[in-house]
Amino acid sequence: MDLYGALRPLIFRLDPETAHDLAFWLGARVCAWPRLPEPELPAALRRTAFGLDFPSPLGLAAGLDKGATLLPLWKALGFGHVEIGTVTPRPQPGNPKPRLFRFPQAGLILNRMGFNSEGAEVVAARLKHRPEGLIVGGNLGKNKETPEAQALDDYRAAYRLIAPQVDYIALNVSSPNTPGLRNLQAPEALKPLLAGMLDLRRELGLDRQPLLLKLAPDLAPEDLEAIVEVAVASGISGLIATNTTLDRGVVAEPLRALVEAKGAGGLSGMPLKAKARDVRRRILAALRGRLPLVACGGLGSAEDVQDALDDGAALAQVYSALIFEGPSLVGRIHRGLAEF
Ligand SMILES: Cc1cc2nc3c(=O)[nH]c(=O)nc-3n(C[C@H](O)[C@H](O)[C@H](O)COP(=O)(O)O)c2cc1C
Repeated sequence: MDLYGALRPLIFRLDPETAHDLAFWLGARVCAWPRLPEPELPAALRRTAFGLDFPSPLGLAAGLDKGATLLPLWKALGFGHVEIGTVTPRPQPGNPKPRLFRFPQAGLILNRMGFNSEGAEVVAARLKHRPEGLIVGGNLGKNKETPEAQALDDYRAAYRLIAPQVDYIALNVSSPNTPGLRNLQAPEALKPLLAGMLDLRRELGLDRQPLLLKLAPDLAPEDLEAIVEVAVASGISGLIATNTTLDRGVVAEPLRALVEAKGAGGLSGMPLKAKARDVRRRILAALRGRLPLVACGGLGSAEDVQDALDDGAALAQVYSALIFEGPSLVGRIHRGLAEF
C-alpha cells in the first residue's frame, strides 16, 4: 500500500472540503521544492490531438485545480495535461457549504460547488508563472448572477484573460450547479455561443488555439446528434464528454437513498462510468471522426482509459478516481497503458 492508501482512512474522516484544502496546502509546499521529479513517460504514450502534442493521453479533468495553483505538482505526477477551472470572469464564492460529499464504498462523489472561482484576472496572473512542458487547458464558465441571455459576454470576458495564458480552452456548458447553464447546450443557444467565441478567437489572433466544448451525460440521444452537428459546423476543435450526472439512477439502492438525502448536485466516479461511456459512444458515432473527443467520466484504471481510447477517444481525463486512489493512480494507469 502507498502512503496515500495508508493515510486514506484518516483523510476520509475529515470533511471533504477540509481534506481538499489540506491537500492543496500540502501540494503548495511540494510545488515549492526546487527539484520536483520529472517522470519519464514511454514514447508509446504520446498522442497528438487538435494540433497539440501530449506526452500521455491522460489528463486531470477540470474542477480540482480551479485556480491553477498546483501545476508543478500535476506535472511531477506525470499528467499529460491539466484542465484548470472552471474559471468565471468575476470572482464568486460558489454555493454554501456543505457542497461536496464522498461515498468511498462506491467510488462516488456528489458535488454542488457552483463554480467557486477567484475570477479570471487572478487566475490569468497566476498562469503567467506556469511551469514549462505541461499542457494546460482553461475551462471557462459564466457567473451565477449573469442572465442566460448574456452568457456569451461572460465567456468572452473570461476568454480574453485566460486564453492567452493556456494551450487550449474548454467551454463548460454542462455543469449542473449553475442554474440554466445546461440550457446553453441546446442547438439554438449553442450556435451563437460558439460563433461568438470563434469570432473572439480570431480577433485576438489565437486562431490556432483549440477550442473545445464540454458536454453533460444527461443529454437525450436525439439531442446529442443535433449538438454534434452544431459543433462540427461551427468550426470548434473538439468535444469533452462528460461532466457529472444529475441521474440518481446510476446509484443502486441502498446507497441511492443516502445520496438523495444529501440533496442537489452532480455525481461522478465509478457509478458514472457506464452512462458516460454510452454517451461517448453515441457522440463518437455521430462525429464520424470529424472532431476529436476527450473522454471523461468514471475512468479509474488503465483498462478504463484504454477502452475509451479503443472506442475512438483522443485523450482521457480523470478526477474522482484520483481522490479515492491518490497520486499513484497516474503511474499505475501509465504502466498499464504501456503494457497494452
Ligand atoms: C468536486 C468536483 C468539482 C468539479 N468541478 C468542475 C468544474 O468546475 N468544471 C468542469 O467542467 N467540471 C467539473 N467537474 C467535473 C469533472 O471535471 C468531470 O467531468 C466529472 O467529475 C467526471 O469525471 P470523474 O468521474 O473522473 O470524476 C467537477 C467534479 C467534481 C467531483
